[in-house]
Amino acid sequence: SQRTLVLVKPDGVARGLTGQILARIEAKGYTLTRLELMTPTREILEQHYEEHRGKPFFEPLVQFMLSGPVVAAVAEGDRVIEGFRSLAGATEPTTAAPGTIRGDLGRDWGEKVQKNLVHGSDSPESAEREIGIWFA
Ligand code: GTP
Ligand code: MG
Repeated sequence: SQRTLVLVKPDGVARGLTGQILARIEAKGYTLTRLELMTPTREILEQHYEEHRGKPFFEPLVQFMLSGPVVAAVAEGDRVIEGFRSLAGATEPTTAAPGTIRGDLGRDWGEKVQKNLVHGSDSPESAEREIGIWFA
């Protein structure tokens, strides 16, 4: 078995999509083992998005993530890292495949940030690192 960090980003929480998003994770057969509504600090976000520091979208991304509460969760199951990223769909919500969270529920809003509803860890190393940041 494997675990991953899932975030429902501020756009997902503000739009009232948390339940639908978590339901898709559970419907695919993964288990939620941690779940918390929280308002992250800048410190948490700078650690979480460390790989993107220095990129042009870094500061808008951090500002967006500070704009309201997020839901942090740990999902567990065989190949859940790939499985959740497949459920989430491609980064850009306008063109993410229908059937995915981003493709069905997201779109562009003419802003600097990709408001794409969710985050999922991209490797076992990232998952353990990120779970340590959000559930210290
Ligand atoms: P996460 O699951 O959130 O990590 O998404 P991802 O793995 O599909 O994307 P990535 O880790 O590359 O980027 C993290 C977040 O930064 C994305 O989810 C977007 O919100 C934002 N982002 C990434 N690339 C771009 C970009 O080229 N332009 C803008 N404006 N935002 C971006
Ligand atoms: Mg990523």
